Amino acid sequence: MRYYHSLSALVLAAATVAPLAPYKAAYADSASAVAGKMQAMPDGAAVYKHVCQSCHMADGKGAVGAGARFPALAGNAKLKTASYPAYVVLNGYGGMPWFAGLLSDKQVVDVVGYIRTHFGNHYTDTLKPDEVKEMRPSLTVEDQ
Ligand code: HEC
Repeated sequence: MRYYHSLSALVLAAATVAPLAPYKAAYADSASAVAGKMQAMPDGAAVYKHVCQSCHMADGKGAVGAGARFPALAGNAKLKTASYPAYVVLNGYGGMPWFAGLLSDKQVVDVVGYIRTHFGNHYTDTLKPDEVKEMRPSLTVEDQ
């Protein structure tokens, strides 16, 4: 528990300092503005675990509560087209934040592949990193 408290103090301190640091690209409304350095996320399972699972749950079944509705990715027919989840991840959608500033093209390919082949989904066609690049929103650097 003590460890937990000092850890959250550290995270808080990092979040307070982050806006002052001269980041090359800090996007106020993206998670990466606060996160800065991330732990390695070498495959789709890691991206899902670190970025998506808190809302969509470990089993991909989503959740309802506290006024929010996190849709299930399990057995979700909208995942049939690979570009749909990729677009949502890059641009956000309704109550879901966007992750274009956080994830590389490959990480988007990986996590989209992961959710389309797990949780009862069996869509094996894959996106290419170049296709993801084309879907990216045009980001502007706000701190210059
Ligand atoms: C902070 C919570 C949160 C996180 C983190 C999050 N999502 Fe979402 N996601 C949502 C919410 C809320 C919606 C529904 C938005 C709406 O309908 O207004 C959603 C919708 C979606 C949809 C569309 C589902 C549909 O039926 O149309 C997909 C696909 C999706 N998320 C994938 C992901 C992936 C992949 C990640 C990780 C890279 C992720 N989400 C991270 C909250 C989150």
